[in-house]
Amino acid sequence: MLDDEKIWEVRVWTWKSFWDATLDRASSRYQLLDRADLIMGSVHWTGDFMGASRPPHAEPLTLYRHWLAVCRLSSSVTVWPDPQEHLIAGAKGSLYASLNKVSRALGLDTISTMLVTPKATIQQVYSDIIEGRASVVLKREYSAGALHAFIPGQTEEDASERWRHAQELERLWDAIDEDEEGLHFNRPRWLVQPYIRELQGYGELRVHCVGGIVSHVIHSIPTDITLVSSDVNIATYFGNLDKISSKAREGITTIWDQSLMELGNETGEFQAYVLNTLAKLIIHEEHVYGVTSGLRLFARLDVGVYKDKRSGKFRYWVNEITRSHASSMFETTIANHGIFDVFWTTLTQCLQIATMHKLFQKKHLPHPKV
Ligand SMILES: Nc1ncnc2c1ncn2[C@@H]1O[C@H](COP(=O)(O)OP(=O)(O)O)[C@@H](O)[C@H]1O
Ligand SMILES: [Mg+2]
Repeated sequence: MLDDEKIWEVRVWTWKSFWDATLDRASSRYQLLDRADLIMGSVHWTGDFMGASRPPHAEPLTLYRHWLAVCRLSSSVTVWPDPQEHLIAGAKGSLYASLNKVSRALGLDTISTMLVTPKATIQQVYSDIIEGRASVVLKREYSAGALHAFIPGQTEEDASERWRHAQELERLWDAIDEDEEGLHFNRPRWLVQPYIRELQGYGELRVHCVGGIVSHVIHSIPTDITLVSSDVNIATYFGNLDKISSKAREGITTIWDQSLMELGNETGEFQAYVLNTLAKLIIHEEHVYGVTSGLRLFARLDVGVYKDKRSGKFRYWVNEITRSHASSMFETTIANHGIFDVFWTTLTQCLQIATMHKLFQKKHLPHPKV
């Protein structure tokens, strides 16, 4: 980074060149990394980082060495997200546990998520969903883009290709588990959750927070039972939950169409929910993981609503949180609304502050063995 705060000397590396450089400390490419002010990126840890469907295509031990090298670099270079955080990025089971603690601390209701094991039970839950016997959702950690999410209404035909892929990955993890050197990463777990029908009918509000404030919100709604495609629009105002309840009573299902969002923004209820949840989650994660949370810098909270059976009232809940470079930021959609420049300027300023003040604590802790 040069002296003038507005000018950065930026080098874009391919994933492969970054990978190679970290594995060879004597190389000139490694020296370049060592002299950088900020390294942004790394493996797509949110998704299936061991899988055959996308890079890195690396052996676990090699992947571990790469991760250790990034940890080492982070003692002198600001790395965003912190390498400690790479490993929790896709761990949805832990995320749901944290989110439930946060909800309780805020006096809100929780959604119960259970781990499913062993394999025979996972297979049984899958069959129960596909054959219409269970109103639950089965999903795997470290899965992005709905790759391993199975919901009621999907048929064998809709799901079989993704289920087959999921089984392949299970075999890959079985092999890793047998190889002692491979036990550096927590095996992705399968989770079962109540089926929140509103998530399908009304979609999710993807709230992009930069530097602790809401930058923009994207409303997305699945257009396909396999969840692979969705309608995406920018959202600007939000009807309060009470308004959603009365609309639902009238049988209006498009609760988050643009006109309804504009009906009510008088109490800031939605923003308050998002920012209180984010603030508590940051405090919680920093306590548990011992590093300054990258969520301070950037976080995308995917918020849905569900109808509470006892009170009949709608509640917000967070289905997912994505961080950093691994998150779709819906650049094209926001570019069409002229928000893109503001978003990137704010993000760049936050990265600069993180870099200048060495926001992240430096740690050399290897990830604990499973
Ligand atoms: N509990 C749920 N009830 C209903 N639909 C769900 C539920 N959990 C996930 N889905 C659907 O599956 C999609 C993918 O699940 P998600 O947890 O967001 O995983 P990812 O986006 O990482 O693949 C969601 O966008 C939503 O449409
Ligand atoms: Mg999602």
